[in-house]
Parts: sequence; structure tokens; C-alpha cells
Amino acid sequence: MGFPVSNNNSSRSDQLLSEIATGSGHGENSSYFDGWKAYDRDPFHAINNPNGVIQLGLAENLLCHDLMEDWLKKNPKASICSAEGVSAFGAIANFQDYHGLPAFRHAIANFMKKVRGGKVEFDPDRIVMSGGATGAQELISFCLADPGDAFLIPTPYYPGFDRDFCWRTRVQLLPVQCKSSNKFRITRAALESAFKQAQQDGIRVKGVLVTNPSNPLGTSMERDTLETLVSFVNEKKIHLVCDEIFAGTVFAKPRFISISEIIEEDPTCDRDLIHVISSLSKDLGLPGFRVGIVYSYNDNVVNCGRKMSSFGLVSSQTQHLLASMLSDEEFITKLLDESRRRLSERHRSFILGLAKMGIRCFESNAGLFCWMDLRPMLKEAVVDRELELWKLIVNDVKLNVSPGASFHCEESGWFRVCFANMDDHTMEVALRRIRSFVYREVAAKAEAKKKRWQAGLRLSLPRRFEEMMMSPHLMSPHSPLVHATG
Ligand SMILES: Cc1ncc(COP(=O)(O)O)c(C=O)c1O
Repeated sequence: MGFPVSNNNSSRSDQLLSEIATGSGHGENSSYFDGWKAYDRDPFHAINNPNGVIQLGLAENLLCHDLMEDWLKKNPKASICSAEGVSAFGAIANFQDYHGLPAFRHAIANFMKKVRGGKVEFDPDRIVMSGGATGAQELISFCLADPGDAFLIPTPYYPGFDRDFCWRTRVQLLPVQCKSSNKFRITRAALESAFKQAQQDGIRVKGVLVTNPSNPLGTSMERDTLETLVSFVNEKKIHLVCDEIFAGTVFAKPRFISISEIIEEDPTCDRDLIHVISSLSKDLGLPGFRVGIVYSYNDNVVNCGRKMSSFGLVSSQTQHLLASMLSDEEFITKLLDESRRRLSERHRSFILGLAKMGIRCFESNAGLFCWMDLRPMLKEAVVDRELELWKLIVNDVKLNVSPGASFHCEESGWFRVCFANMDDHTMEVALRRIRSFVYREVAAKAEAKKKRWQAGLRLSLPRRFEEMMMSPHLMSPHSPLVHATG
């Protein structure tokens, strides 16, 4: 039997592997992931590397880990790795049923209800496990569509979907363009137009994929938008997948409305079309535990999904621990309340810090990030200018923010900035860096303007940038801008 002989000819070696392995469907060739790489090469550390890159591109929720650590100390029996809990070791280490531990499924169903304000019941028998929401997205895509089929997806959307939903399934995502002038709302007209375009292109549309609350906008969907989506999919007889993994991060009004609530109130909805994705990665800040859930109202999807979940089960040790923690109702209620309070506080101080520099963010009530509006800083509203500015922010200012283009946003100049994955000190350093960057830019523009004026040339600063420079915040007596423009 011969073994493959290694050679240096890359096209020859490419042929040894599958198209999936050699293609770019993983989506990692994007500015979104490039920013992460920049951070990995030179990560900020307050003492060891104070000039390193600060990670503002990772939607992690680290604000309540102390509360969970306290709970673990008080409840050592919950873990099979403690003297108090080790007696369950044999049974748990051996457990491999892909339905999952009954106690875990019950606890998850209860948790989903609690996060949704107790408005809807979830049936533990419909809980299908997977490796994080990443695995859940792929699982649902495999269940609902064939290679070449498409899902419509409103923009801007989470860049990971290009990998999770499409890479190995060969399903495509077709953007439904949403605009800031309409607060990025999903309209019936935009859905119809994307659907029609797909039909003209000979593409079979199998459904719509939405994220509620939105990543990157940080907004929860209004009731009428959800109703529009339900009526659209029912009329077209296609699926609706609602990624609700940020449901527990809603920290301000309006309250979160789940798609489950909408269909409970609508007896005409064909429930076989509705599927919810949930996870503990954002609500509890446990992405390392890889808990992803597909909650489908379609029996066949539940049956098939459960079999598929054997490719990405949540480890029984994790299920065991979480079943115990999530069943402590009093603790979970307090944890969710405190998490919302801390998120709200962090959000408030972060956007206030930006506002003092004249930077506005899209108004939001949820999520672990804000959608920062740097449109006034672009010389031209085009992707190249946005990416130029982004490179400057990553390489010079040493902040990994994510450009709107990586979220398929059709308007240039928006950036997602995560604020819940760091301590207060790091946030202050990040804000200081943004402040000096803005002031430097302002001073440079003012200098250029002065020179042009002296040369008798027409002033050519973009108007919106001038407006930003003249904002009351920037005109504070302590602002370097006063000196820069003076
Ligand atoms: C909307 C959305 N869905 C899914 C995921 C993947 O989450 P998980 O860590 O649970 O795989 C993310 C991660 O950021 C996300 O933002």
C-alpha cells in the first residue's frame, strides 16, 4: 500500500483535499477575523503589554462571572470534579444519550422561559442540543435546506453566519438590505424584493434567518416586525429561523419579544415553519461551555436534529453542572437581573464617553456592543474608505473594532464596538485612545484646512465631519479641539 508523497506543489496538494477544505467558505478571510488576528499578535495587558491591541471585536459577556464563581463555591456538589460531587462521576462520565440529561433539558426550557419574562412555555422534549449556537445554526441549515438553496437575511448581520449556516451545508445567504434612515428595520417591501430577485436568479429560497436582538445593532425587534416576518414566511411557505441568543442581554425598554410569543398569539401560523436558536454563550457569558439549542416547533426537525446532534453534543459533565445551576431559580433570577443592570451601566458609560468626543452610536437596548457611527469621518461613503479608517484604528490606535462591511452593511462608516468583555480600566484606556485619535484627526484636518484657506483654495472638508467637529461636546473648554481650530 502506498502513502501519499508530500510535495511542494500547492495546486497538486490542494487536489488531495476536498473543495470544502480548500475553499474560502469558512469566511475567515474577512476584516472581522483579521481584527481578531491583530489582537492575537499583540494583545493588550494593563501591566505586561499596555500598548497592545485592545479587543473590542469580541461579543463576550464577562461582567457577571464573579457571581457564578460564588455560586460554584457554595455548591460544590454540582461538579463531579469535587469531593462533594464525585459520587456522580461514573454515571455522568458514561452518559451518552443524545437526547441529553432530562434534568438539563428541563432546566434549559425553564431558563428560556425566564429570559423571555415568563411569557411563553418551552417543552423540554423539543430541546435539541448542539455545540454552541454555531453548531445549532449549522444543524438547522442541514435540516431545512439543500446545497444551493438560500435563506434571506436582513443586513447588517453577524459575520459568523457565512461560516456557520453555509460553509459545510452549501446553503447560501441572500442579503435583505436595511437602511439607517429606517432604523435598519426589516420591511415587507425589502423581503419581497429579495425574494423576487432570488426567483429571477433561479435560486430556491427556503427561509428567512433573523437575529433578535440584533448583532450588531443591539436592538430588539418590534412586535409588528415579528408579525410581518411570520406572515411573510406563512404566505411563501418557507421557514423562519430566529437566533435569540442575545435575549437575556436586553437591558432597557422596549422589553424583549420572542418569536414564540408571537406564534402563541397567532393560531393561523403554521408552526412547522418556526425554529428558535438559543445558547448560553451571551446571556450567561459561557461560550466555552458550547451550549447551543435548536428549539423547533416542527416534529420532524426535532427528530432529525436530535440524531444530527450526535456530532456536537454538549458534554455530560457540562449538562450536569448547568442542570444544577439553572435549577436554582432564586440565583438565576438574581443573576439575570444583575447582568442586565451591569450591562446597562457599562453601555451607558461607554456611549457617554464616545458622545463626549462627538461620536454617536445607534440607539440600542440590548447586546454586548454598540454600533458606532463614524460616517462623518469618511472622506467618501464607500467601503474602501471605511476599511482605510478601520486599518488606522486597528494598527495605529490599537483597537480591534469591526467594520460595518464585515456585517454586510451597505452603508459605509458604521463600526461594531464590544464593551462587555473587559474590565473598567481597559474600557477607560480604550476610550482615551479613541479620544486622542479623534483629536489628532481633527487637528490634522484643521491644519489642512488652514493651509488650503491660506492658499486660497476651496475648503474641501466633508461637511458632516465639520458638523461633528463643531458639536457642543467637542467644543468643551477642555477640548484640544479648541486649540486645534483656534
Ligand atoms: C447572532 C449570533 N449567533 C451565533 C453566535 C455563535 O455563538 P456560540 O458561541 O454559542 O457558538 C454568535 C456569536 O457571536 C452570534 O452573535
